[in-house]
Amino acid sequence: MARAPVFLALLCLTDFALAGGADGRKMVGVYELKKGDFSVKISNWGATIMSIVTPDSKGNLADVVLGFDTLGEYVNDTSYFGPLTGRVAQRMARGRFVLDGKVYHTYLNDGKNAIHGGHRGFSKVIWTVKEYVGGGDSPYITLYYRSFDGEQGFPGDLDVYATYELSSPYVLSIRTNATALNKATPVNFLQHVYWNLGGQGSGDILGHTLQLSASRYTPMDEELLPSSGRVDPVAGTNYDFLAPTPIGARIRKVKGGNVFGYDINFVIDGEGMRKVASVRDGKSGRGLELSANQPAMQLYTGNFLNNTKGKDGNVYNQYAGFCLETQAYPDAVNHPEFPSITVRPGQVYKHDMVYKFSY
Ligand SMILES: *[C@@H]1O[C@H](CO)[C@@H](O)[C@H](O)[C@H]1NC(C)=O
Ligand SMILES: *[C@@H]1O[C@H](CO)[C@@H](O)[C@H](O)[C@H]1NC(C)=O
Ligand SMILES: *[C@@H]1O[C@H](CO)[C@@H](O)[C@H](O)[C@H]1NC(C)=O
Repeated sequence: MARAPVFLALLCLTDFALAGGADGRKMVGVYELKKGDFSVKISNWGATIMSIVTPDSKGNLADVVLGFDTLGEYVNDTSYFGPLTGRVAQRMARGRFVLDGKVYHTYLNDGKNAIHGGHRGFSKVIWTVKEYVGGGDSPYITLYYRSFDGEQGFPGDLDVYATYELSSPYVLSIRTNATALNKATPVNFLQHVYWNLGGQGSGDILGHTLQLSASRYTPMDEELLPSSGRVDPVAGTNYDFLAPTPIGARIRKVKGGNVFGYDINFVIDGEGMRKVASVRDGKSGRGLELSANQPAMQLYTGNFLNNTKGKDGNVYNQYAGFCLETQAYPDAVNHPEFPSITVRPGQVYKHDMVYKFSY
């Protein structure tokens, strides 16, 4: 069964469309995937998850992701509420890398460094809706984006797909892939959803209990870069989440840059599709389990949120949500000791995530 997309806004983003190498205007919409009382809203603006509504143990529904009421607010968003980021997500030192002997400079949008693929990364472009089935057994949407040679400084054309699908009982899967068409290029995507299992706007997430399948992490410097290239054990540090631990238990003892909170990359134990994290909010009883096929995951606890106007008149402050960003090792392009993120013509990058909700 196909549902009609709800076009909240018909934005004439001509300059964005041209930047994307597309001809003329494209339409930005909001697409709902609905299965019983489980609902997910996606926009083709930045392949953004705008809302995820799930029940708690009493059947009360809440939207468990931070975001905005209108698409227009996502255009100017600097917190990255819910999009898929790329071509190379996370921070890249000085926006510079060398590939096959050639030096590349990408757009700098985080001080002296690049973050999330530049100021018009994949989170700030219009994707094409390839397929959309809003209801039935397995509602899904497939989005497509053709990234062009030189976009934000990256080499070669890249074909990108992202499919969001609901399955029983409360499972959201995200499958992404990217094919390099003519030049070797670094590729690393991540989904930047901010979670609050008590419901967005319900306060901070410090009481959520987090467990990570991560025995190691990559220490970060003041610029939030893994400049030492070290991979250290979490044992005996404030980054040890091997056993379920409240996010807030040690949060005032760690810093992400100049603020207190987690903004740190973990190396996930094992390889292939496997469990990465589980989280539980004792108050609502909602739980979330994340599996993915990536080597690493950034934990970010919304350290920089400060009086951000969000949905339903809510104001998001520090720790109002947290992100579990499965990814490659950060700044891998500048660290030959980390697994390579180079995708050569004909090769395919695949990043799959499965979010299982419980109550
Ligand atoms: C986005 O920012 C621009 C420039 O500051 C402003 O003109 C525009 O009104 C903003 N859009 C929204 C939807 O807030
Ligand atoms: C990428 O994903 C799309 C959409 O699911 C699919 O049609 C395509 O076959 C995938 N490409 C590769 C190379 O796996
Ligand atoms: C939030 O912003 C205000 C106004 O810019 C500033 O005074 C305050 O220190 C900020 N708080 C945090 C936690 O960053």
